[in-house]
Amino acid sequence: MAAMMRLDKLLGHCGWGTRRQLKELCKNGNVLVNGRACRDSSVKVDPAADVISVDGEQVLYEQYSYLMLHKPAGVLSATEDRHSQTVLDLLPRTYQGAGLFPVGRLDKDTTGLLLLTNDGKWSHRITSPKKHIDKVYEATVDGIIPEDMEEQFQAGIMLADGLQCLPAHAVQTGANTVEITVQEGKYHQVKRMCAAVGLTVTALHRRSIGSLQLDSCLQPGSFRTLTEKERELPFE
Ligand code: URA
Repeated sequence: MAAMMRLDKLLGHCGWGTRRQLKELCKNGNVLVNGRACRDSSVKVDPAADVISVDGEQVLYEQYSYLMLHKPAGVLSATEDRHSQTVLDLLPRTYQGAGLFPVGRLDKDTTGLLLLTNDGKWSHRITSPKKHIDKVYEATVDGIIPEDMEEQFQAGIMLADGLQCLPAHAVQTGANTVEITVQEGKYHQVKRMCAAVGLTVTALHRRSIGSLQLDSCLQPGSFRTLTEKERELPFE
């Protein structure tokens, strides 16, 4: 049998409000458990078996969520911020109480594939440099692309502050575009690697993580859940 949990905890996880708001909702008879009004928000329910609804809307509980977001420019890869919009602000209410966080960070001006989850183990498997997962970026650059750029990246770039990067790939894809593949996620890594070879990044877009590509149907700012198969693609 699945673990029992408090009704208010389950509803909070699904974005139905704070503990106090849920107490009120229950008291007022808005919450049904298996078709009957449940006026006590502290009762234990079985998320796998009990049918729960609020104001006639069925509550679908999932312990873990796995989302792919097309991150737009101008939004922070954070869970909350007093001044700027965050990637969490782009999600609907049903994801607001589930403890989601971004899997690694993209800079505020970087666009593209950002994963969100509340599964710490899955996130760690993706972000740990020890797992050698390729993250592929398209960088638009200012400056003269050096002829030996590929070799410099392959040898491992030394950043301006002396930090040594792991070997990476850099391939020129257009007059001022470069495709860069890295397996780590140091602060401003791609921008600083480019700076080390004399290039200024003017736009940066992440296309893929392992074999998981950004869905081309997703407009900037929109998201979708990953299928079970897609959850394994970062590791392939
Ligand atoms: N490298 C950067 O410099 N910025 C990002 O957002 C991601 C990788």
